[in-house]
Amino acid sequence: MPTLSRLLLKWYYKNGRTLPWRNHPDPYAVWVSEIMLQQTRVETVIPYFEKWMNLFPDVTSLANASEQDVLNAWEGLGYYSRARNLYKAAKVVTEKFNGELPRDLTDLRSLPGIGRYTVGAIASMAFGMDEPTLDGNLRRVFSRLFDVSEFADSPAGEKILWELAAQHLPKGQAGDYNQALMDLGAAICVPKNPRCLLCPLIKICESRKNGTQDVRPVLKPKKMSPHYIHAAAVIINRGCVLLAQRPPDGLLGGMWEFPNGRVNVDPAKELTKVLDAAYKLKVKKKEALGVIQHAYTHFTVTVHAFCCGPVSSPKTENLVWVKIADLNNYPMGKVDRAIANLLGRLLFHA
Ligand code: ADE
Repeated sequence: MPTLSRLLLKWYYKNGRTLPWRNHPDPYAVWVSEIMLQQTRVETVIPYFEKWMNLFPDVTSLANASEQDVLNAWEGLGYYSRARNLYKAAKVVTEKFNGELPRDLTDLRSLPGIGRYTVGAIASMAFGMDEPTLDGNLRRVFSRLFDVSEFADSPAGEKILWELAAQHLPKGQAGDYNQALMDLGAAICVPKNPRCLLCPLIKICESRKNGTQDVRPVLKPKKMSPHYIHAAAVIINRGCVLLAQRPPDGLLGGMWEFPNGRVNVDPAKELTKVLDAAYKLKVKKKEALGVIQHAYTHFTVTVHAFCCGPVSSPKTENLVWVKIADLNNYPMGKVDRAIANLLGRLLFHA
């Protein structure tokens, strides 16, 4: 076996992490974990994965659930299109593939939410196929091991890195090899101050030899993300509060929020105008409830929440009155869950 995979696998069998989806006999478990692990850290994923497997132990139970239950189980993990796609894909797998995740790579890739990375991960880890994969950790490890000076996030850089991922794959052990690279990237070949002295690959690492570890991978500079100010209304009437459901696709698609809108400078003054414009809602502002900050991938927001007086029945169909005691059953993003919690504290722990 070539040196890279031999050294790496030796290290992995001694130092690799024990994770609930590893060596799981069920490809569905590998699939769920890989979707959760996109953009999210292992430590965050573990409790979500365990809860998910209890709620939806197989493809059929996921396909038969409601989208609201699925989003509820995903709440807090972020990037909710992952959950919506997983759900859509579970329905396709049930209808088209007899409830079994297909082994054919083209069929696998045709499923919503499954791209090249996930195909490689599932094929190698769940089906034992000799397939490469490339996530953020592997991109960094290969950029350093082979001192790749191309932008790692450019098409040319991607091509080089995928080729490297495929070239060194040990036959019959691709699943372990891919996961070993992930663990190496998470524990040793970390983005800042890599722990080269602990690395099993120190002797064959080109970046280490050339002293370029700190500038690999080469990434395009990040654009500054814009900042928005929003005003949100917590409108209470007879133990109920008014919630709006977001459109089915896009950011936080299908999830619930307190009626809100973007303001220019003064949230308190602009609240009534923006709610009228967005929902045809006439509200009477009462008092400030709190201010929530949140960073999304491409922008940051400051949301000013206000308790508001009741309004005449709303006309827009995406608005519903929800019992305050039932707020937990409505999947929400971080900002709106924080507002719901402020409300809970105000009402029940005052
Ligand atoms: N990140 C993505 N997939 C992973 C896996 N299977 N093990 C550890 N980290 C991961």
